Amino acid sequence: MTKELDALLKEKRIFNPSDDVVNNSNIKKWMDKREINTYEELLERARDQNWFWGEMAKELEWFRPWGDVLEWNLPHAKWFLGGKFNIVHNALDRHMKTSRKNKVAYIWEGECGEVKKITYLSLFQEVNKFANALKSLGIKKGDKVSIYLPMIPELPIAMLACAKIGAIHSVVFSGFSAKAFRQRVDDAEAKVAVTVDGFYRRGKAIPLKENADEALRGASSVKHLIVVKRAGNDIEMKEGRDVYWHELMEGQSATCETEIMDSEDMLFILYTSGTTGKPKGVVHVHGGYAVGTHATLRYVFDLKDDDVWWCAADAGWVTGHSYIVYAPLMLGVTSVMYEGGPNYPKPDRVWDMIDRHGVTVFYTAPTVIRMFMKYGDEWPKKHNLSSLRLLGSVGEPINPEAWIWYYKKIGKERCPIMDTWWQTETGGFILTPLPITPLKPGSVTRPFPSLEADVLNDDGESITGSGGYLVLKKPWPSMLRTLYKEPERYVKQYWSTFPGVYLTGDVARKDENGYFWLQGRSDDVLNVAGHRIGSAEVESALVSHPSVAEAAVVGKPDPIKGEVIQALVILKSDVKPSSELKGELRNHVGKEIGHIAKPSVIGFVKDLPKTRSGKIMRRVIKAKVKGEPVGDISTLANPEAVAGLDEMV
Ligand code: WT7
Repeated sequence: MTKELDALLKEKRIFNPSDDVVNNSNIKKWMDKREINTYEELLERARDQNWFWGEMAKELEWFRPWGDVLEWNLPHAKWFLGGKFNIVHNALDRHMKTSRKNKVAYIWEGECGEVKKITYLSLFQEVNKFANALKSLGIKKGDKVSIYLPMIPELPIAMLACAKIGAIHSVVFSGFSAKAFRQRVDDAEAKVAVTVDGFYRRGKAIPLKENADEALRGASSVKHLIVVKRAGNDIEMKEGRDVYWHELMEGQSATCETEIMDSEDMLFILYTSGTTGKPKGVVHVHGGYAVGTHATLRYVFDLKDDDVWWCAADAGWVTGHSYIVYAPLMLGVTSVMYEGGPNYPKPDRVWDMIDRHGVTVFYTAPTVIRMFMKYGDEWPKKHNLSSLRLLGSVGEPINPEAWIWYYKKIGKERCPIMDTWWQTETGGFILTPLPITPLKPGSVTRPFPSLEADVLNDDGESITGSGGYLVLKKPWPSMLRTLYKEPERYVKQYWSTFPGVYLTGDVARKDENGYFWLQGRSDDVLNVAGHRIGSAEVESALVSHPSVAEAAVVGKPDPIKGEVIQALVILKSDVKPSSELKGELRNHVGKEIGHIAKPSVIGFVKDLPKTRSGKIMRRVIKAKVKGEPVGDISTLANPEAVAGLDEMV
C-alpha cells in the first residue's frame, strides 16, 4: 500500500474529473449558457467581477434589486448597494411557494441513534415561532443574541429566527468554556442567550447549562436565558431570567413577517482567534454573504435537488454557519446534521450514516480522514458507499497520502475531492477546485472564479515555486466587513502588511500552473485538528494560573491532528515541577478556553528565549520543538536560553 502510494506521489499524477462529472455539473451548464468552453476561459471571463457576481446575485430573491454591484474603498467593500434582502427569505420563505415545501431540509441524527426528519415547512414554522418568541422577550432589529448550543435542530432554528427579524446572532461553539462564552457575551452585549440542559458526546451527557450559569453570573446585558431540554439532566432554572424553549414556544404563532434588510445590514458576529489574547469578532452581512456562500456551494459541491449533503462540521464554527445552515437551505437541498462524535460508538459511524441516509456529497476535515485511515480499510468496507459522487476537505492542509486514501477507499476513484481553502473572515470558499478542475492531490488548486490570490515574499514581491505569504488581491461578496467594535484592528490585521492586499495569515506556495499548496499559518495562530487557536490566548490562560510565571505556546507537528499544542512554562520560584501540576495546568486551560485548547505537551523550563525588547522568540522555540536548526539568534537578549530548552522537564 505504502509503496503504491509513494509511486503515485512521485508520479505527480493529475486527476481529471470524468466526462460524466463534468457534463452533469452545475458549472458546466452555467458556462454553456454563456458560451464559455473551458475552465481557463471561465476564469478569464469571471475577472469582470461586477458582471460575475451580478449574475450570481440574480440566483437569489431580492425585495428590491441592487444598484451597483460593488463599492470598493480599500479596505472597505460594500456589495449590492441599495439592495433590499433577507437571507432567511431565501433560505426558507421562498421555498413555501414550491414543491420544496415538503422536502426534508435536515436529516438530524442524535448520537444515541435517534433520527428526526425536518421538512422545509416545519423548519419554517419552528423558525417563525422562535422569531415570535424572541420578539416576546423584547428582541428587535439590531439586538444581539448569544447562542451556546450543540448540534441539535434548535441551533439552526435559533440562528434563522434571529436573522429573520433582523437580530444579530453570535454563536459560541459548545466546546468553549464558561469563561470564553462570557467574554463573547459581554463583547456582543447580548440581550438574550440560548443554551441547552445537556447534550451527548461520546456517550456522556455534557451539562452545558452549568457552564452557561457560571458564565452569565453578573453578565449585565443578558435579560433572558432560553434553555432547550435535550438530555434531561438536573438543572437549576434562575427565576426571572431562565425560560424553557418549549414553554416559550407554546402558543407562539407560526407566521412571522421577515424583516426587510439592507444588503449591508449585519447578519452575525462570529469570534475567531487572532494573534492577541482577545478573539476577533468577525462581522458578516446579509447580502454579500448570502450570494457568496450560495454560489460557492452550488458550483463547487455541485448540489442539485436530489442530493443529500453532509457537511460534517459543527455549526458553532464558520463551516457550519455557511455550509450547514445558510447555503444548503438557500439551495433547498437535504442535509445531514449529526450531534455526536464521528467514531462513536465505533469507527464506522460515519460510513454507516452515509450508507443509511444515502449521502451523495460528503465534506470533512483532514484530521478526520487521517483518523479513519489509521483505523483501517475494513471499517468503510463494511458499508455501501456507492451513493457518494463528490467529496470535500477543509480546515487544514491535506497530505497527499490522506488525499489518495480518501479518493480510493471512500470515493472509489469516482468522486473528485474538493479541497476548499477559506477562513471565518472569508465567509465562503476562496481557493477551491470546481468539479471541472484537474486535481493535484494536496493542492487546493486555484481561486474561485473572479477571485485573485498570490504568494508574496518579505518584500511584497510575487513569487512562484517557494513558500510565502498568501494574500488576496480583490474583494469578494462574502468577505468580513469589519471586526466588531475594533475597526482599526480590521485595517491593521488584514490590510496593512502589504498595502492594498488582504493578508490571510497563511503560508502557501504557488506552482508553475498557478496551483496553490497550503503550508500552514505564518502568524502565531495554531491549527489543531482544524480548530483555530491563538498561541497568545493559551499563554494568557497559563499565566493566569497561580503557579505559572511565564509561558510560551507553539504548535508541534502531529500525524493525525496536523498540529498539537506544546507549552513551555516557567514556574514561579517557589513551585516544584510535577506531573500532577501538568495535569492541573491542562485542566486550567480547559476551564479558561475549552477542551480544544488544552496543551498536549507541557514542559517546564528555566528560561525562554527573548529579544532585547522582552518579546518571546516563538520562531526559535518552534524550530526547537520541530528539531530544526534555530537559525539566527544574534538578536536574542539571552542566547543561553536556547540550550536551556534541551533541559526541559
Ligand atoms: C484557517 C482558517 C474555513 C473553514 C474552517 C476553518 C486553515 C482552512 C484549509 C485548507 C489548508 C486550510 C488556514 C486558514 N485552512 N482550510 N483547505 N487547506 N488550510 O476556519 O477557523 O477561520 O481557520 O484554516 O490556516 O487560515 P478558521
